[in-house]
Amino acid sequence: MEGTAKMAADNPKDPMGPQAAMKAERGGIVVLDFGGQYTQLIARRVREQQVFSAILPCTTSVEDIRRLEPAGIILSGGPSSVYDKDAPVCDPAVLAQGIPVLGICYGMQWMARNLGGKVEPAERREYGPAQLKLEKAESDILGGLPRALKIWASHGDNVLALPEGFHLTGKTANAIASAEDPKRKMYAVQFHPEVNHTDRGTEILRNFLFRVCQAEPKWSGKAFIEESVEAIKQKVGSHWAICGLSGGVDSTVAAVLVHRAMGERLTNIFVNTGLLRKNEFAHTLEMYRERLGLHVIGVDASEHFLEKLAGVRDPEQKRKIIGREFINVFAAEAEKLQKGEAHGNIKFLVQGTLYPDVIESVSVKGPSATIKTHHNVGGLPEKMPFALVEPLRDLFKDEVRRIGRDLGLPEEILVKHPFPGPGLAVRLLGPLTKNDLETLREADAIVVEEIRRAGLYERVWQAFAVLLPVRSVGVMGDGRTYGLTVAVRVVQSDDAMTADWVRLPGEVLERMSTRIVNEVPGVTRVVYDVSSKPPSTIEWE
Ligand code: XMP
Repeated sequence: MEGTAKMAADNPKDPMGPQAAMKAERGGIVVLDFGGQYTQLIARRVREQQVFSAILPCTTSVEDIRRLEPAGIILSGGPSSVYDKDAPVCDPAVLAQGIPVLGICYGMQWMARNLGGKVEPAERREYGPAQLKLEKAESDILGGLPRALKIWASHGDNVLALPEGFHLTGKTANAIASAEDPKRKMYAVQFHPEVNHTDRGTEILRNFLFRVCQAEPKWSGKAFIEESVEAIKQKVGSHWAICGLSGGVDSTVAAVLVHRAMGERLTNIFVNTGLLRKNEFAHTLEMYRERLGLHVIGVDASEHFLEKLAGVRDPEQKRKIIGREFINVFAAEAEKLQKGEAHGNIKFLVQGTLYPDVIESVSVKGPSATIKTHHNVGGLPEKMPFALVEPLRDLFKDEVRRIGRDLGLPEEILVKHPFPGPGLAVRLLGPLTKNDLETLREADAIVVEEIRRAGLYERVWQAFAVLLPVRSVGVMGDGRTYGLTVAVRVVQSDDAMTADWVRLPGEVLERMSTRIVNEVPGVTRVVYDVSSKPPSTIEWE
């Protein structure tokens, strides 16, 4: 990941980077991230209104923000106090661009403090639901709403005195809850309009987008496709590219988009790492070629990956090795391709990186700390022989699925559960062996089959098996056995940032358990994982 972030920073002219504005993106909203847990939700709520939105670290320069030609800026919430030593900050010049600004929670406090208001630690921290009472004063963003609203708050500091030019528009029992300076087009709310628990939150955001910023609702899947294709063309010029396909929806959508932009100058590579699900390699390869018409090279490197992973226990180490070997395979294939007649210089590697992959892997000043190095980008080495093309970097999974549908991809691929890039390696705890991988693959296939049979596949986010290096005693026939444990994990989620375990019907669990113990040699016990994210993660490693 570090490599990716570095590359964008190294190359300010990157037409796919945050600095460049495509047509449908101009006139959108820039969300400056102070590290709030709802930042991505803000961006998504804006896109739900067909207005483009991009999240940028709060440290982004004014120049880079201006390049996106935003109709408005939203300052996100964040966990810090404005008085913390390392409190995240923006360049105060952001407030002097004549671009409308909405500060939410920490964003409000930062803005108030910078404009000469007074912010102090609250006597009583507000967290959770609260009542908002609107003032009689005119308000651009709260106008037309009922006088009392249920809102969602989460803050420790309060704005005690508003900056000059601002007037109060709403209060809670404990704090100034909203204020605005319509002349300078500055708006501030202490609560979170982006979360569902806030009454009429969407209306408040819509008022900011359309009444104040006069943003045009022109962002759609179709516009995204057209403009991405255009931006990719500009970025790659006359160079050639390769794309690492994983069999999942993200890399497939990325490949189809880039294929539209580059045609035969894109070669896709699908690697059998030996860490894929049962039958996945042959089946997916056929789908890519027959149904999507993509030019795909299938590389069976399973023995090679296993060799490199032999004896490795540490999950981060596994990810790093897999990332490195992936790149080695790509580099070797690129080398072979370039030797071919009429093949040009391969300069780019296409990846289906999504926004949650970026945010969980990169730590910008203020925003969420790195949780794991992972998500496609995880183990990529810092120095790569390719520059990255990542057309889906700003999107969430459900948005990518929608784009995939607009691109005419088969439903089978669109509804496919996410699968980690390092594959079964991070679902087999401890060192890998061929035998254990086979055991896990068989158990996993049963879990997925039973979820499908119960009609639940499309209703859950992920369903899979994990092989634990825990042996326990069993009894089969007349004999005593001593075998491994399979954990079944089925979770529900919107975007993998949070997840809840699925309350599966007892019969489904029973069928899974019976089948796994009977059909998969070496397994004596099946357990069901009842942990949510947070505090647990979806994957076990
Ligand atoms: P966690 O385990 O972090 O997973 O809650 C969140 C989502 O990301 C997937 N995941 C990965 N994807 N490379 C990937 O491409 C990885 O190393 C990786 N680790 C987790 C996971 O399956 C879930 O959907």
